[in-house]
Amino acid sequence: MLVSEAIDSRISCRAFLDTPVPKHIVVEILEAAKRAPSGGNLQPWRVDVLTGAPLAEFLAAIRTKQLSQPAGEGTEYNVYPPNLHDPYRSRRFKCGEDLYSLLGIPREDKPARIRHFARNYQLFGAPIALFFSIDRRMGQDQWADVGMFMQNIMLLARERGLHTCAQEAWAIWYRSVAEYLQLPADHMLFCGMALGYMDESAPANKLRTERAQLAEFATLRGFD
Ligand SMILES: Cc1cc2nc3c(=O)[nH]c(=O)nc-3n(C[C@H](O)[C@H](O)[C@H](O)COP(=O)(O)O)c2cc1C
Repeated sequence: MLVSEAIDSRISCRAFLDTPVPKHIVVEILEAAKRAPSGGNLQPWRVDVLTGAPLAEFLAAIRTKQLSQPAGEGTEYNVYPPNLHDPYRSRRFKCGEDLYSLLGIPREDKPARIRHFARNYQLFGAPIALFFSIDRRMGQDQWADVGMFMQNIMLLARERGLHTCAQEAWAIWYRSVAEYLQLPADHMLFCGMALGYMDESAPANKLRTERAQLAEFATLRGFD
């Protein structure tokens, strides 16, 4: 698979088959992904992978906690800037509306929207969870490095016929994730990721999100 094909075929998969992913494939992906660049070669990422019984136990614990704490535990960082402004606000709104319209859930049906969002906490049915954390003394530059590592994983997954969904939704369960994974005290959770084989028949996976035109985000100078 060409890199461009991996990039083009990567989407946020929101319905997975329960087909297991063998350990050697996950190891191969992580071994290859670690070639991601990082400023000063700090390699400031940490990833914890769960599958099988530990994953089932963890997801069941979260399901139970959701009953008494539907909004989770708060967050350790702002998932979005406060008062998100345009064009970002409209883009966020549009991708949500496009997803729910594919699923046939109207705006007024808040309970159905909440139920679909809650599928984040069942990993959309994926058999593998990855949790990315970072030393809290690290700065913006190192957070960008973790993003590059994550993107490598998402593209390498495509090369193996797998799909992913990055999931910052886990930020609201940061305490429970840290506790279950026994993260070192100096580490904080950034993001989760679901990994597995896509359920091709699921409407949620038909979403093809839009992107801005090149001229909106790129300035090219000095070419003939
Ligand atoms: C860091 C990060 C966190 C994300 N968190 C979530 C999430 O919690 N739940 C979800 O359904 N999608 C999540 N997404 C997916 C984005 O909504 C998605 O990437 C965006 O709408 C573009 O769509 P595409 O990935 O299908 O191209 C996340 C993506 C990134 C990069």
